[in-house]
Amino acid sequence: MAKFDAEKIRGDFPILSVTTNGKRLVYLDSAATSQKPIQVIKEIDRYYREYNANIHRGVYKISEEATQAYEDSKRKVASLIGAKGIEEIVYVRNATEAINIVALSWADENIKKGDRILITEMEHHSNIVPWQILSKKKGAVLDYVKIDADTGMLDEESISEQLSKKPKLLSITHASNVLGTINSISEISKEAHDAGATVLVDGAQSVPHMPVKISELGCDFLAFSGHKMLAPTGIGVLYGRSEILEKMPPAFGGGDMIMSVDHQSFTSNDLPWKFEAGTPNIEGGIGLGAAIDYLNGIGMEDIKAHEKSLTRYALKCMEESGIRTFGPKDEKARVGAIPFEIDGVHPHDVATIFDSEGVAIRAGHHCAMPLVVEVLKKPAVSRMSFYIYNTEEDIDKAMEAVSKVKKTFKLS
Ligand code: ALA
Repeated sequence: MAKFDAEKIRGDFPILSVTTNGKRLVYLDSAATSQKPIQVIKEIDRYYREYNANIHRGVYKISEEATQAYEDSKRKVASLIGAKGIEEIVYVRNATEAINIVALSWADENIKKGDRILITEMEHHSNIVPWQILSKKKGAVLDYVKIDADTGMLDEESISEQLSKKPKLLSITHASNVLGTINSISEISKEAHDAGATVLVDGAQSVPHMPVKISELGCDFLAFSGHKMLAPTGIGVLYGRSEILEKMPPAFGGGDMIMSVDHQSFTSNDLPWKFEAGTPNIEGGIGLGAAIDYLNGIGMEDIKAHEKSLTRYALKCMEESGIRTFGPKDEKARVGAIPFEIDGVHPHDVATIFDSEGVAIRAGHHCAMPLVVEVLKKPAVSRMSFYIYNTEEDIDKAMEAVSKVKKTFKLS
C-alpha cells in the first residue's frame, strides 16, 4: 500500500459491514482482540480445504505443505521482530502461555530462595500471577516498580531503587493494556542487565501496533499474542535468545518436543520445537503468517502513525467533552488504548449504552486489578482502543455515545 488508506483497509474486514443493535458496528476493543482481514480468513480456509494435515510427521505432499506453511510463518515472525532465526521463535497459545513457559522453565532453574523478581504496577495478570506462583514455590520475593497514577508513567526513582536490589528477573510490559503507556524498554533493559537481571518483555500491546525490534528492546525474552495482530486466537509467540533457550529445559512433554525416548528418559528436540509439545495450532500459525504479510503490506511505521493520530484526536474530543482519561496525555508516550470514566456512571453502564449505539468498548478491570483497583483506586474503568481499521468517524460515533450516556444519566 502506497499510502495509509483506512477506507481500503476497512474493506478487507468483513465484520465491519455487520450491524449490531441496528447500528453500524464501531469496533473500539482491539486491545482485547483484533478483527481479522479477509486475507487471513482465506488463508486459513485454504489450509482446511487444500492441505489440512498434521505437521512434522507425514512424508506425503499435503503434510509437507502444511509443515512448510507453518514454519514459514515463523520466519515471518523472526523477520518482523529481528530475531536471529526460527530457532528463537517458539509458538505458544498466547502471551500468557509464553510468560508461563519462562516461569516454568527458565525461572524454575534460575530463581532460588530469597531471589528477587521485579515487575511493575502496570502489568497484566498474566505477567503477575506466574511470578506469584513461582515466588511462593521458591521462596522468592516479588517486587514492583511503582507508577505515577497521574501521569500513567513508571516512576524512574522506583526503577533505580528496585534494580539496586539486584533482581534476577525483570518482567515488564512494553505497552500497558490499560493505560496505553509505552515504557522505554531499551534504557530499562540496559539498566536491568547492568544490575544482573534477565529481561522479559510483554509485547502483547506493542508488537501489533508499532515497529518492534529485539535489537532495540535489548531483551532476553519477548511474549506476544497473534489474536491482537489480525491472526486467530490460540497462537502466540515466545521469543527467546537462542543461547538462553538452549540451556532451558522443556516446560511440557510430548509430541513435537521429543528427539527420542526410551523407557526411562528422553532427548529434547532442537529449538524451537523443544518447547512445542503436542500437535500445535497449525491454522493459527498459518493465519499469523498471513496477518504479518498484511501488516507488512501497510508498514508498521504507518500503522503507528495512524494510531497516534487517532489517539491525539480521541484525547482532544474527550477533553473537550469533560471526560476524565487515564494514562499519558501526550499521544507520543502511548499506544491507542484510552481508559476513561464518566463521573457518576458505572463503566459497565457506559459500555452498555455504547453498545446500544453499536460501539464496542471494554469495561472492567482489564485483567490488571493491581493497577485499576489498587493504584487508580477504581473498581473498573471504560476503555476504547484502536487499530488500523478505525477512523476519526469511529471516534465521533463514540462521542455521540458519550452524549447519550450523559443524557440518560441527566449529566448535562
Ligand atoms: N488483555 C486483553 C485486554 O486488555 C484481553 O482487553
